[in-house]
Parts: sequence; structure tokens; C-alpha cells
Amino acid sequence: MKITNVSNVQVAQEDNVKEQFALDVLTGLCSTPKNISAKYFYDDKGSELFQKITSHKDYYPTRTEFEILDSIKDELPKVVGEKEIDLVELGAGDGHKTELVIQGFLNAGVIVNFYPIDISEKAMHLLKKNITAHKNLKIHGIVAEYFQGLRYARTLSTNKQIVLVLGSNIGNFNPAQSQGFLRQLRKTINKSDYALIGFDLKKNIDTLLSAYNDSAGITRDFNLNLLNRMNQELDANFDVSSFEHFGTYNPILGAMESYLISKKDQTVFIGELERTFEFNEMEAIHLEYSFKFLKKDINFLCEHSAFEVVEHFSDKNDYFVDTLWKAI
Ligand code: AVJ
Repeated sequence: MKITNVSNVQVAQEDNVKEQFALDVLTGLCSTPKNISAKYFYDDKGSELFQKITSHKDYYPTRTEFEILDSIKDELPKVVGEKEIDLVELGAGDGHKTELVIQGFLNAGVIVNFYPIDISEKAMHLLKKNITAHKNLKIHGIVAEYFQGLRYARTLSTNKQIVLVLGSNIGNFNPAQSQGFLRQLRKTINKSDYALIGFDLKKNIDTLLSAYNDSAGITRDFNLNLLNRMNQELDANFDVSSFEHFGTYNPILGAMESYLISKKDQTVFIGELERTFEFNEMEAIHLEYSFKFLKKDINFLCEHSAFEVVEHFSDKNDYFVDTLWKAI
């Protein structure tokens, strides 16, 4: 497998990432309510914890999407009807679910050029382990931001593109951001290209609550890890044991939300920012939105971003949807 690090062209990329992290933490902790973006969960430890969440019994989305992809993998090549495709994945993940989609096309005799795109080179190596080699499969990993990578993939070949946005990653965006993301996606691909997008559906609230408060406490550790990351990368002195994880469903927004709550009045110093931050007893830091959807919300997003729905594929419980869209 070949790997191109598109972001390598920018010198000292690591410094930029750290500087951006510091700036975002500064803005977030100076805001009311305090917040830190969910995109900062995924350092090496955070990615490892997330992998553990996905295989825990309380977290239904990953295994449900796996089930869906397994049941549609033989149908997708028929719907797409091409002899050779470019399969582009935004946010590569560990490859288990992608492997199913790839196998479906290979079994149907289709030549697959697989372009996983991820900002982390480490994620790319993890993914590679879970994809089985095949004479009709070419893999070219692209280390880059999503759209930068998508544009780069387009310069490598000109087959019909199928863009995968799996795992309900889109749920971290609010509705306005989702529309912006999908419009940008549409603009970056060609007419008649496809997108296969995972959306987590609205469901029984207890099911949601236990998925984001798993009984083994992995989600708690995943959230608290953000404090460890700031300690390591930004030279902060958060006492992790004096914050607690709180995951809840906001029925007005239709989103799961997670917070870290300060157990006492405390002051934290962040070396990189050369300043202190005050936390009141029971004060919350907002970390994550995970929006849940109705099928009609998905149709709305589709219509407003110049795609047409080919088909919604869901599981028997209607917990999750992978929806196939065609660019019009
Ligand atoms: C990676 C955004 C799809 O929202 O379910 C899992 C992240 N957070 N448990 C999700 C997550 C807490 C996950 N996504």
C-alpha cells in the first residue's frame, strides 16, 4: 500500500496542530459555557479508547452498521454498475466495515482503487492491517484533511467515485455544519458519483443513554482522556480525578451530549497558554454533540445538497441508516 502525506508539504505540521489545539482550548475555556471540540478526542490513546467503545455491547452503532454493510455488500456493485471504481473513505477508521464494502465489489469482479483519507498516519497503518490484499484491489492512503484528500484522490484516477462517510461521524456536526459539509462534499465530486453516509437514528432514550454511558466506563475514560491530552500536549495540570463524565440526551436538539463536570471549585494552569482557568463546583465543560436523525431529516439534507437518495439501508431495529446518495 502506498501512502501520500499531502499535509507534509506544510512544514512543521505538528507545530500547527498543537498551536491550533492551544488556541481552540483558549477560546473554549473562555466561553460560557466552557467547551472543547470533540475533534480533539482522537490522540493515540483516545483513538484506542474509541476502538474499545465500538466493541462494547452497550454501544450499538458500530455493530449495527457492520450488520447493514454486510447485508448490502453484494447489492452495491449492482446498483453502481461499474467495472472499476474509486472508493474514497473520509475518516478511515479501523477498516473492519470498509473491508465488507471492498469485498462486495471484488466478489462482483469490480476493480477497486481504495483511497482512505485520514489526518492521522497512524490510523492509516491500523486500517491497512484489516484490509485483505487482492489482485484487483489497489490501496493508496492519503494523509490529509477530508476535502484536501478528496481533491488529491481525483488527480490520481478518473473512475466513478464512491465516497464513504461511515460511523455517523456526521453526527458530531450541528445541522448547519452538516449542510455545509455535505454541500462541500457535493462540490468536490462529479455528477453521478456516489456517497454512502452513515446516520444514527432517533430511538428509545434509554438505549441512547446506555450507549454513551457504557457499563465498563470506557466512554467516561474516553472523555477524561481529553484532560490527560491537555496535560501532556499543552503542559496543563488538570487533576483528572476531580472531574466527572456526564452523558445525556437533549430532546430539543435531538442529540446526545457529553460533558465533564468539575467536582469542586478549582484552578487549572495551562503552561502553553501561560494562564489559569477557574472551574466552579459542578461547572460543566461541553465536549460532544452526537446528533440523531429521522429518515426525513436525512432526505432534507440530501435535497439541500444536490444529491438524490438512491436507497436508505437500515437494520431490523431501525437503529441506524447507511444511505446511498447520487450526485445530481
Ligand atoms: C465517532 C462521532 C460517531 O458520536 O457515537 C462514541 C463518538 N462518543 N461515544 C458517536 C462517540 C462517545 C461517535 N462518533
